[in-house]
Amino acid sequence: MKNDDYEIGIQSIDDHHHEVFQLTTMLDRAVRGNKRDDLEPILDFLERDLLDHFQEEEEVMRGVNYEGYLEHHTQHQVFEARIHELRRVFNTSPHGAHVVYGIRRFVDALIIHILTIDVKMRGLQS
Ligand SMILES: [Fe+2]
Ligand SMILES: [Fe+2]
Repeated sequence: MKNDDYEIGIQSIDDHHHEVFQLTTMLDRAVRGNKRDDLEPILDFLERDLLDHFQEEEEVMRGVNYEGYLEHHTQHQVFEARIHELRRVFNTSPHGAHVVYGIRRFVDALIIHILTIDVKMRGLQS
């Protein structure tokens, strides 16, 4: 994927998106190593960095009274609920397979979000 496919011109947000694209590699590595503990940093990233990232995007949008705010915010809320669900499954399931599948689907949906919804923020300045 070329950077111009998703860059919106706000450095910290673009950097976070770049990290999201690398989650797929982290996940592949965790699956190959077959170690449940390797999923922990991925969940940490989702719970901490990604939720902060959603806040950052929303602040930028609110700062300019962005017309697409509600649509965008609603998608973030759905992702947030799924992150909590992934954590719950991880903590209660003895096997990693369910979680791996869930995270993969999550990351796929997140990449689609970046390429279709986040890119509409291109050119917005707070
Ligand atoms: Fe984003
Ligand atoms: Fe977003």
